[in-house]
Amino acid sequence: MQSKNNPKLIQKYNIPGPRYTSYPTVPFWDKEGISLQNWTETVKRSFNESNDEEGISLYIHLPFCESLCTFCACHKHITKHHSVEDEYIDTVLKEWKLYVDLLDNKPSIREIHLGGGTPTFFSSENLKRMIDGIFDYASRHEVYDFSFEAHPNDTTREQLQTLFDLGFTRTSFGIQDYDPTVQQAINRIQKFETVKRIHHLSKEIGYESISHDIIFGLPHQNIENIKTTIANTVKLRPDRIAYYSYAHVPWIKGVGQRGFDENDLPKDEEKRELYELGKQLFFEAGYIEIGMDHFALPTDKMYKAMVEKHLHRNFMGYTAGKTKLMIGLGMSAISDSWYSFAQNEKRVEDYVNRVNKGKFPIFRGHLLTDEDLIIRQHILNLMCNLETSWATEEMKLKNIDKILERLTEMQDDNLIQIYENKLVVKESARMFIRNVCMAFDLKLAKTQPKGRIFSMTI
Ligand SMILES: C[S@@+](CC[C@H](N)C(=O)[O-])C[C@H]1O[C@@H](n2cnc3c(N)ncnc32)[C@H](O)[C@@H]1O
Ligand code: SF4
Repeated sequence: MQSKNNPKLIQKYNIPGPRYTSYPTVPFWDKEGISLQNWTETVKRSFNESNDEEGISLYIHLPFCESLCTFCACHKHITKHHSVEDEYIDTVLKEWKLYVDLLDNKPSIREIHLGGGTPTFFSSENLKRMIDGIFDYASRHEVYDFSFEAHPNDTTREQLQTLFDLGFTRTSFGIQDYDPTVQQAINRIQKFETVKRIHHLSKEIGYESISHDIIFGLPHQNIENIKTTIANTVKLRPDRIAYYSYAHVPWIKGVGQRGFDENDLPKDEEKRELYELGKQLFFEAGYIEIGMDHFALPTDKMYKAMVEKHLHRNFMGYTAGKTKLMIGLGMSAISDSWYSFAQNEKRVEDYVNRVNKGKFPIFRGHLLTDEDLIIRQHILNLMCNLETSWATEEMKLKNIDKILERLTEMQDDNLIQIYENKLVVKESARMFIRNVCMAFDLKLAKTQPKGRIFSMTI
């Protein structure tokens, strides 16, 4: 049986499930959290094991946006008052100093990603002050890769030039959809001409990789109107396209998903068709599908990373490089020391207050067990390479038989192939990858979460 466009399979596998930007997923982190001592010790351990060779990554969360897009599931803080910028940057730099004081050597920074909210809410002066402040205590790794998220409506030439001069070579623009009815429903009016101008400006300045974020499954989207969005997108030839499945999670506090009715959302089969259409049109335009949600031109680093099997996935999604230690700075940012995770306070005021008292602003976390570490690697392999193997001693799981038992139905449905020591997800079943990972998720198997937590898998 072929999985493509099979409505029965879509119905069967479209269930609530994690997006696996981490394992264990955040709702399954230890209820007791992580002690500060465990957190700082694992950061130091990871740093000492990796800083000299591969370097470390920084994720900096810049949460402010001038207006609320009503589809958005990110951690943001809506304000038009730019007076918030100074204090926020001061706090990020103070938090960075807490980490610097913990580490024995100068950090060597390989990756920086500015995420949001909207990093381009901040003035060029403040963005420069922040990056210069980071490098007062760090050096650049010999191969570095700096990127940021930008809102086309408020990005200026000056910001693009300033960040480029600071070493940023990649940017991603939030597009979502070009149809006026959809834009109105999601409260995000954004003209193609605006995107075109800012896209060309970025290329002219010298940005190596430009990504466009498009979402399928938004209110009032249909096969006809999404064609225009896709046609406009490929016309500009971004190096990467993120084609996200709309995550409808209005039950999460503060997410602000409103302004449309659930009846306005395309249903299972329709949504699957939107995905299939996007995939086909991107393919026809020369793009190659990478992991889950992503397409790239063969000239982009991400494509090379996939071919060479060093694609990585973390809280920001897919990345072409991996570091063992990723420090997250800013409100709600999640850090990953490989051996543990920690998340910062989710309200700007709480975050600022904690840091101003000289404290690490983490409010929850998780110390990974040996079993967690093995499962984490299996899930990473599946999400990045569509296959995983338990042939080597360090990848063996004592529960593998139970896991494979849970996967027999997917094998019968011709979505995966199980071999003696290995599992391969069929290319045509890429859309069901989250369901495959769920079979490995022993925490989810043990305890089904109470109430709705996750978005639908398809
Ligand atoms: C922090 S936002 C982008 C930066 C900037 N604030 C903007 O809006 O242009 C990152 C991306 O997450 C995606 N996103 C946000 N909420 C989503 C949701 N509910 N479902 C799927 N993708 C979502 C959007 O594509 C968005 O461009
Ligand atoms: S999509 Fe971007 S601009 Fe809109 S609310 Fe979310 S983070 Fe802010």
